[in-house]
Parts: sequence; structure tokens; C-alpha cells
Amino acid sequence: MKKKMSRLLSKNREDFSEKSLDEILKIDEKEMAEAIKEIGLETTEYINTKKIENFLKTKYIGHEILCFDEVESTNTVAKFLAESGSEEGTVVISEVQTKGKGRHGKKWESPTGGVWLSLILRPDISPSKAPLITLATGVAVANTLRNIGADARIKWPNDILINDKKVSGILTESNAKFNTVDYVVVGIGIDSNLNIDILPEELQKDSTTLKNELKTKITETELILKFLNEFETVYGLFKEEKFEDILYDWRRMSQTIGSYVEIKQPLGKFLKGYAVGINNEGALILEESNGNLKKIISGECIIKK
Ligand code: BTN
Repeated sequence: MKKKMSRLLSKNREDFSEKSLDEILKIDEKEMAEAIKEIGLETTEYINTKKIENFLKTKYIGHEILCFDEVESTNTVAKFLAESGSEEGTVVISEVQTKGKGRHGKKWESPTGGVWLSLILRPDISPSKAPLITLATGVAVANTLRNIGADARIKWPNDILINDKKVSGILTESNAKFNTVDYVVVGIGIDSNLNIDILPEELQKDSTTLKNELKTKITETELILKFLNEFETVYGLFKEEKFEDILYDWRRMSQTIGSYVEIKQPLGKFLKGYAVGINNEGALILEESNGNLKKIISGECIIKK
């Protein structure tokens, strides 16, 4: 149990080493969730949760905000809390992630100077609709960045670009039981104020930060506040099953539709063609050179122009 807790909260492990092994073995997962929540009542150097709570206009998103100065991954903490019964709208934020997770098993660099947050959602929908939550989140991130003056666009399925460079990524992890969704954890990473040169060299040329694009600094606190307000609006459309409204906005802000793309699929398979649209499930429709239309559910998209 102690190991699990230290794994979830990488730096806060000292807090637990003060407890005796006996005490630690006695606590069950529910108590562990409560202990995590207590540690999460932090305001860090760069993230002022009090300010976020005071200015939040939402009904349920962010009713509980847990903020840490360091965890392995906010998605992992959020999944643990979701398993222990945390409610829809709970937000987990960390100033640093030591094992931030990207899509396709990649590492997500998460130093100070970015927004690393995860949301716990419990939508009453069929699991087949769950992928649309990722698209809805992409719309909410793009709207947030546009509202502060950045020309944000969405690359299928869920990268947010400014001037053709990636500024934000989304990782959705869900748990379905008996054809219903138990919970969905949506993780959002935004490269707001960090220095691009801390990223691995191969990522640098295709990545950017908000600070670079806007030529001014917007604090992580402000950005989180604006995003949470925006997210509840878009997620509200999702809950009302107004999927067409979300897809309309996604298509309007898409960087992918109309481009010639290469899709990297598992096992190193590549598909090429024109991205002609996305269907109502969020799948990409690719027109291949022989005119065939192919529906693509997942993969890594590389825009060839
Ligand atoms: C991608 O590969 O584009 C997705 C990146 C998602 C990163 C965010 S940061 C907050 C949350 N916690 C994680 O470990 N990953 C997501």
C-alpha cells in the first residue's frame, strides 16, 4: 500500500515514510484516497487553486480541485480516485509530472511551466460514444486558446496546434463495465510557459508554447481557470447528446481536414491519403489514391500538406 501511494505521488513519499508500516498496512484504498485528497489541498508556487476556486463559474467541473507540486501522472492519480468513488468534475493538477503519459505509450515531458491536469467524468452514455469526449476536450482546449488570442487548430484526433506546431495534447483513459461507462479520465497537457529546449530534440521543431506564440505570458492559474469554465460548456453539449454541435466546432477548427496525411498505425503500418472529414463517431475518413474511402479509428496522424 505504501509503495502504491509513493508511486502515485512521487515527491510526497516522505509524508508516508513517517507512518509506521503497521499504520500503512491498515489503511484500505478508500482511506488512501482520503489521504491523497488531503495532500492535494495545495497551492503550489505557480498554481493558485484558491484563485481558481474563487473565480470558477462552473456548476460541477472543479467542485473538487486537488493540486500537487509533483506526481507521477495526474491521469494515474485521477484513475485511482475515480476507482475509489470520486465524483464527476474532480480535477487533479500537478505542477510537475515525473512520469507524464502521452498517447501511444510515449512519455510526456511535464516540467514546471505547463498545465498538467486530469478530469474525472462519469457520463451516462454507451461506451461507443466515449471517443467523442476526446474530441469535445479538443474543442474546449482550442476555444480556450482562441479566447486568449492564439490561432489554435485541432489535428486529428486530439493535438492542438498553433502555427502548425503542437502546443497541447489530450490523453483519455476510460473504464467501462457491462456496456456502461464507469468513468472517463481526460488528461490535458498544455505547454504554456516552459522552454522548448527542455523537450527531447526530435520533438523541438514541431512543438511550441503559448508564451512563444502570444509573445506574452499567461499564468497557469489563469489558463486552468479559463479552460475549466470552457470545458463545462462543451461537455454540457456532450451530456445533452448534441454531438453534431461539437463535431461542427471540431471540423471548423480542424487542421487535418483537407490535408494530405500519413497515418501511422500499430505494428508500423502506414496509410496515406487526403483527410476528407470525420464521421459522427469521430473517426477520420481518408480518401486513398485509388479513390477508396477508409474509416480510421485510431493512429498517429502526420500532416504532409
Ligand atoms: C499526447 O500524447 O498528445 C497526450 C498528452 C497528454 C498529457 C497529459 S498531461 C496531464 C495528463 N497526465 C498524463 O500523464 N498525461 C496527460
